[in-house]
Amino acid sequence: MTKTLLIVGGSSGIGAATLDLALLRGHRVIHASRHPELARVAPGVTSLEWDACGGDFPAQSLPDVLDGLVYCPGGIRLKPFTRLSAAELREDLEVSLIGAVRAVQAALPALKRGQGAGIVLFSTVAVRLGMPFHAAVASAKGAVEGLTRALAAELAPGIRVNAIAPTLTDTPLAARLLSSEERRQAAAERHPLKRIGDPGDVARTVLWLLDEASMVTGHRPGWRLVWGAFGIRGARVWQNAAAGRSHGIGLPACLAGS
Ligand SMILES: NC(=O)c1ccc[n+]([C@@H]2O[C@H](COP(=O)([O-])OP(=O)(O)OC[C@H]3O[C@@H](n4cnc5c(N)ncnc54)[C@H](OP(=O)(O)O)[C@@H]3O)[C@@H](O)[C@H]2O)c1
Repeated sequence: MTKTLLIVGGSSGIGAATLDLALLRGHRVIHASRHPELARVAPGVTSLEWDACGGDFPAQSLPDVLDGLVYCPGGIRLKPFTRLSAAELREDLEVSLIGAVRAVQAALPALKRGQGAGIVLFSTVAVRLGMPFHAAVASAKGAVEGLTRALAAELAPGIRVNAIAPTLTDTPLAARLLSSEERRQAAAERHPLKRIGDPGDVARTVLWLLDEASMVTGHRPGWRLVWGAFGIRGARVWQNAAAGRSHGIGLPACLAGS
C-alpha cells in the first residue's frame, strides 16, 4: 500500500536512508529540515524548511492524511557533567524532545486520518547503558523514550508510537567518532556483531515499524551492546574522539557506541 510519510531530518544520515527506502517502496514523502535543499529531489518528495528549535511546525503545509511520521533530529553532545551548562542541556532537549512534540502535534490530525499510522522517534543506546559524558544526550533521549510510551498509550488504538535506539552509526553526526580507519575498526570491534551501524540497517527498521509491525507500539528496538567496567581513561578517550582530538590509544573494548 502506498503511504504518505512525514520525515523530519531526511537530508542526512538515517533520515536520508529512510527517505530513499520509503521512495523505493513507492511511498510519498514530505520532508522537513533546516536545509531541505540537501534532501533527495525526486518525484514523490516535497521538501519544506523547518528548524525544530525555531517554533511551531507549519501544519498548514501538511496533507490532510498522513500514514507515518519519522522524527530524526538529535545530537551526540559528549561532555563531563561538571562542564555541562543548562543552556546546552536545554538545546539538546529542544532538538530531540520539544521538536518531536511540535512535529507530532502538528501532524496528529492528519495521522488520525491515516491507515494504521505510525510514529517513529529516535533515542540512543546510551539511555539504557549509562555511559560517562553522555548526561545531555541520555537525558534528552530518555525523555524521548518516556514520550514514546506515553503517546503509545494515549494514541492507541489508532496510531502506534515507537522509538529506535541506534548504536554508533555511520552518519555525518558520528563523523568525528569514526574519523580514521583505526577508530572505525575499534568501534566495530567493540560491538558484539563486530560492525558499525549502517544507516540503511536503521532505515529498514523504521520502515518495518511503519509498514509491517502492526502489533508493535510503545517499544524501543535498540542495538544491544556489551557494557562492562569503563574507567575514567576510557571515558576521556571517548570524549576526545567526540571532540575531534587525537588520543593515540584505542577506545576501550567495553565501550559500545552512542
Ligand atoms: N549516528 C549515530 O551514531 C547515532 C547514535 C545514536 C542515536 N542517534 C540518533 O539518530 C537520529 C538520527 O541521527 P543521524 O546520525 O542520522 O544524524 P544526522 O546525520 O546529523 O541527521 C540529522 C537530520 O536531522 C536534521 N536536523 C538536525 N537538527 C535539526 C533541527 N534543529 N531542525 C530540523 N531538522 C534538524 C538534519 O537536517 P538539517 O541539517 O537539514 O536540518 C538531518 O537531516 C538522531 O536523533 C540521533 O541522536 C544517532
